[in-house]
Amino acid sequence: MKTRRVAIFGGTGFVGRHLSARLIDCGVEVRVLTRNAQQHRDLKVLPGLTLIEGDPYDAGDRARLVEGCDAVINLVGILNEHGAMTFRKAHVELPKVILETCQKQGIGRLLHMSALNADANKASSLYLRSKGEGENLVHTYARDVAVTSFRPSVIFGPEDSFTNRFAGLLRRVPLAFPLACPDARLAPVWVGDVSLAFIQALDDRCSYGQRIDLCGPKDYTLREIVAFIASTIGVRRAVIGLPDWAARLQARIMEWLPGKPFTLDNYRSLQVPSVCPPGAERCPNSMEALVPTWLGDRHHEIRLQKLRAMARRP
Ligand SMILES: NC(=O)c1ccc[n+]([C@@H]2O[C@H](COP(=O)([O-])OP(=O)(O)OC[C@H]3O[C@@H](n4cnc5c(N)ncnc54)[C@H](OP(=O)(O)O)[C@@H]3O)[C@@H](O)[C@H]2O)c1
Repeated sequence: MKTRRVAIFGGTGFVGRHLSARLIDCGVEVRVLTRNAQQHRDLKVLPGLTLIEGDPYDAGDRARLVEGCDAVINLVGILNEHGAMTFRKAHVELPKVILETCQKQGIGRLLHMSALNADANKASSLYLRSKGEGENLVHTYARDVAVTSFRPSVIFGPEDSFTNRFAGLLRRVPLAFPLACPDARLAPVWVGDVSLAFIQALDDRCSYGQRIDLCGPKDYTLREIVAFIASTIGVRRAVIGLPDWAARLQARIMEWLPGKPFTLDNYRSLQVPSVCPPGAERCPNSMEALVPTWLGDRHHEIRLQKLRAMARRP
């Protein structure tokens, strides 16, 4: 690859860890900024990765991170607001100062993580509006910096908080599983495909200025995904779709719980199908092929298959 050294904001998270490892496999040196190096010290064992503690909102820390890099990747994102950390601060103000840092430090390439359905004016939730605003900003003001932004649907992978969260809940809730927004449509995309899209874009001039949607090979309803996860972990649960009023009530209650497991803003994001338009190019890897590699109990499956085969015998 032509790119030799990359600085990543948000590189300690689910996507960042995967992408960093893949970049290193490609021979790229990776520098990751974190607010808490101790918490992410396991990353230091990756040869080729330098973990730097600092505040992404501090101009000096940003300059220290990107020094000598050919490209910058911004993956910082929050699903919920916490105190002073608002969607605006994370998704608009930070991309703005990261772009300014690239311009000041003479770094000509910026890859920016947005989200499918992000739209500054029309999005259904504050999360998606702020993502849309940040995306517009980096494209509009990108003088001397080639920007590409990525707009994935929900991302799945072994350390995600999507399949693993539903698996955990399904194990804990007996018999019937109440599900908000059961008909929400999603096109989950494999974290490996997302990482590959970033890596391929780094040196690809055709991707300059592009806003790239990333969807997996198939669209599902949330109900189908939860039923698939239940069968993968080998639990029998009736998935009971909540009516809309109950989903909103659930969100209103759960946004007051520690960690805000589900909020009204999350509910609003789910009101618009998170799928790519018909005919759009899709990423190849499916949930069916990959999720069982971290959630599936192969022995359990084989046992079940044997039991079913025995049950079919005359
Ligand atoms: N996961 C998905 O399904 C999905 C779907 C569409 C789009 N996205 C977008 O993809 C990006 C990465 O997602 P992810 O799932 O990897 O997220 P994640 O696991 O939550 O990681 C978020 C990263 O951002 C940093 N961060 C979080 N809050 C911050 C704050 N207030 N100030 C500065 N840094 C902060 C964290 O770094 P430190 O704590 O180490 O400082 C962490 O490395 C996000 O922009 C997200 O919106 C994700």
